[in-house]
Amino acid sequence: MDDDEFYDAMPVDWIAPGESATVEVEGVPIAIANANGTFCAFSNQCPHQGTVLGGLSLQRGRLIRCPEHGSMFDVMTGQCVLASQDGWKGELPLYETRVVDGVVQVRLS
Ligand code: FES
Repeated sequence: MDDDEFYDAMPVDWIAPGESATVEVEGVPIAIANANGTFCAFSNQCPHQGTVLGGLSLQRGRLIRCPEHGSMFDVMTGQCVLASQDGWKGELPLYETRVVDGVVQVRLS
């Protein structure tokens, strides 16, 4: 464990700008996206009905769209910017991140 409950997630060069991936941090699957050089960590499961979000490409540099029912989230704020096809709209849970010596770290608490 690192100080302040931050854990190593992956080297910064693992994800190109505009892309995302799922990484396991202390056994927890977490989605991390590279939003034009800012690394954002968020729930790997869509808060609507649990579809996996890690691995999807971003739109407009910071938006991720769930392929199941179309909800779109801002990965930098967690805000739902487009409701799902059935009208659901809710926040995407985020994790705090930081970069230390070329490694993206995620705070789990
Ligand atoms: S599971 Fe993601 S929008 Fe429904």
